[in-house]
Amino acid sequence: MSEECRFIIFGPPAAGKGTQSKNIVENFKCVHLSTGDLLRQAVQEETEVGKQAKEFMNKGDLVPDEVIIGVVIDALKKPQNSSFLLDGFPRSLGQAEALSKYLNENGTPLNAVVNLNVPEDVLEERICGRRIHKPSGRSYHVKFNPPKVEGKDDKTGEDLIQRADDTAEALKTRLANFNAQTMPVLEFFKNVQPNSILEIDGNKEMDQIWNDINDGLETKFKEKSNSAPATNVACENCVIS
Ligand code: AP5
Repeated sequence: MSEECRFIIFGPPAAGKGTQSKNIVENFKCVHLSTGDLLRQAVQEETEVGKQAKEFMNKGDLVPDEVIIGVVIDALKKPQNSSFLLDGFPRSLGQAEALSKYLNENGTPLNAVVNLNVPEDVLEERICGRRIHKPSGRSYHVKFNPPKVEGKDDKTGEDLIQRADDTAEALKTRLANFNAQTMPVLEFFKNVQPNSILEIDGNKEMDQIWNDINDGLETKFKEKSNSAPATNVACENCVIS
């Protein structure tokens, strides 16, 4: 695929964004920009951003827009990130508007928003069973994607950990924040770029979900290359691909 990918993967906590992101970046040759991963790295390295983010993250609250927007725009400015998949961003209307403004000014609109639909009652089991290999970010699930040896990373044999915010308690806050602050982001893109939205049933086997995403993204690219460029009449800060 020669065209640049500018994708977002969207969905509630533990919807499977990270899991499916790995498939997307491998197949579509784009860079995975996960704000959760960037922030966790900043916390570990005790950078200024990390110090500001830590308490918010542990409670399951959103990190303030003024902290996270700069991190993402700086990443997007790097030439090696021109083909990207954003995972976990934007998560508020302010973030969506800042992203659209930046992409619009650069003439590089989004070309797909993958929306993973997963019922809330499924999320708790996914989140409480998740285990992570911290150095690599490799993710497992005790039931749905178990490591070969319990509690150990398949590649290195090192210990797996549980994220500090992967508790039933923090999930309540994360879900409340998702519904209040992040769902409006989907409405924003549905208004300004309706053709970019790819609705996916995320309550299936991981491989089936990947097939659906792959088919949907391939189709969107074909539609795009066969259609004339669209113009945006809805909002001066918004972009239509
Ligand atoms: P972030 O790391 O982005 O967390 P999240 O959005 O809550 O998403 P998760 O990483 O928890 O889940 P996921 O959808 O990637 O699911 P996964 O594939 O791992 O953000 C963490 C925090 O950082 C936020 O709470 C906030 O504080 C802060 N933050 C980040 N971005 C921010 C922003 N833009 N603005 C402000 N603050 C921000 O899957 C979960 C588990 O389920 C795994 O164990 C997996 O194996 C399993 N699984 C996956 N798919 C399936 C399936 N189909 N069937 C069964 N099991 C499955």
